[in-house]
Order: sequence, then C-alpha cells, then structure tokens
Amino acid sequence: MTETSQCIVFNSEDLPEQGKGLRFALPALGEFATGFLIRYRGQAYAYVNQCAHVPVELDWNEGEFFTDEKEHLICATHGAHYRPDNGYCVMGPCKGKRLQSIPLIEEQQKISIDISVIT
Ligand code: FES
Repeated sequence: MTETSQCIVFNSEDLPEQGKGLRFALPALGEFATGFLIRYRGQAYAYVNQCAHVPVELDWNEGEFFTDEKEHLICATHGAHYRPDNGYCVMGPCKGKRLQSIPLIEEQQKISIDISVIT
C-alpha cells in the first residue's frame, strides 16, 4: 500500500476474490476511522467501515467482511447483510440503508482509492 494525502494505492494481487478485505485509515472521519476494500465477482469495491445501523466497524476479525457463503458483507455486531457490489443492506436492523461507498479506479494491477470525497 502506498499513500498520498488524498489517494491510497493497493496492488490488485493483494485483494483476493471474495476473500479477506484490506483496511485503510480515513483520518477525515476521525483518528480511528477506517475504510475497507473487497473484491466481488472480479470487481473491487471500497466502503467506509461503518455499519448503517450503529456507527461501528463491520469486520468480526480484522479484514473479515464476507459471510460464510461469500455472497454478502456482514456486520459482526448484529448481523446486517450488505450487497458487496453496492453496499445496500438487504437483511438486518438497517435493511434499506447502505454503506458509504468510496470511489476507486483499478488499472495496471493497481487499485487507487480516492479518499478526498470522504469528509
Ligand atoms: S451495528 Fe451493525 S447490524 Fe447493528
């Protein structure tokens, strides 16, 4: 991972398909705020690591965001299920809400995440 003031860059090969996600700091949201990056059906997605129900991190172990079936992201606190491709909550106490997505570009085996939009 490399980092400039507004952009975080990961190597594409470090992001496994429907596997462990990669976390990164989001200092604009607070000292301990994080975002995360996952890959789902070949596509990379990034979100603010904060449940739409209660503002807590989702991962039950650091970087573990997927359900056992690998079809949804799950919040470790009360089990909300989110679609990996758009962050929409399909099941749980925040059904109908969504995770805050973060724009990214994947090209030439690099994933660049633009954190300037997170304020
Ligand atoms: S805090 Fe995530 S489902 Fe309640």
